[in-house]
Amino acid sequence: MAIKNQNANLKNVAIIMDGNGRWARKNSLKISQGHKKGVQIVREIVEESILQNIDSLTIYAFSSENWQRPKSEINAIKKLVVDAINDQVPELKEQKVKLKFFGHTEDFGEKVIKKIKYAESETFCEDYKLNLNVALSYGGKQDILDLVKKISKEVFDKKLNIDDIDESKIHESSCAPVNEIDLLIRTGGDKRISNFLLYQIAYAEIMFIDKFWPEFSKEDFKECVSNFQKVSRRFGKRV
Ligand code: FPP
Repeated sequence: MAIKNQNANLKNVAIIMDGNGRWARKNSLKISQGHKKGVQIVREIVEESILQNIDSLTIYAFSSENWQRPKSEINAIKKLVVDAINDQVPELKEQKVKLKFFGHTEDFGEKVIKKIKYAESETFCEDYKLNLNVALSYGGKQDILDLVKKISKEVFDKKLNIDDIDESKIHESSCAPVNEIDLLIRTGGDKRISNFLLYQIAYAEIMFIDKFWPEFSKEDFKECVSNFQKVSRRFGKRV
């Protein structure tokens, strides 16, 4: 049996899985095949996250801005989400991986919404080994906008005092299921955040990896975890 690592201080990991398209082009494949390979990599990183004793893995599968892509690519990603759920939910359930989709998931239409609900209810458990959060039609700015409107309405309706608005209120009003990201990994070579979890990465360690997502391996992931362990996280304090 594999021995679990004790990553007491690494709880919440987020990943921007960039580079599927460029990897596909480099290998003379269709873009959809790049995304398909990308899903296989997600599976491997999920396995490793369980072994690393990580509490949550939050992945950026589709951003609010990705709607500007060609319709054919959007349809391929929709199909991929449905296929991934069909193929992987039984095994994820067995491994006690709790799935959660967040963002404007309603934009994906009834068929995908139904699948998402099925995946979430099938994998729901109290004694989970890993929370796998999938951002779909998600944007950090849009989330902040939505939560400001939600909280303002509560104040306007006199259900909430302005002085009671605190960090926990922001967290519970955000669609993101995780509050503080410890480690954010971005593959693909670019050094930007692309509107992902803007509030939640306030104190995250950020690692930019110069490899396309379909080339990212368990070893690369373990190296990120090991590098995280070497960082002194001071959170503004003098230590
Ligand atoms: C970034 O590569 C990747 C995406 C926008 C989509 C990733 C989606 C998946 C891997 C599907 C995940 C689904 C589940 C259910 C796990 P890119 O196309 O932006 O790459 P490029 O920058 O090279 O064009």
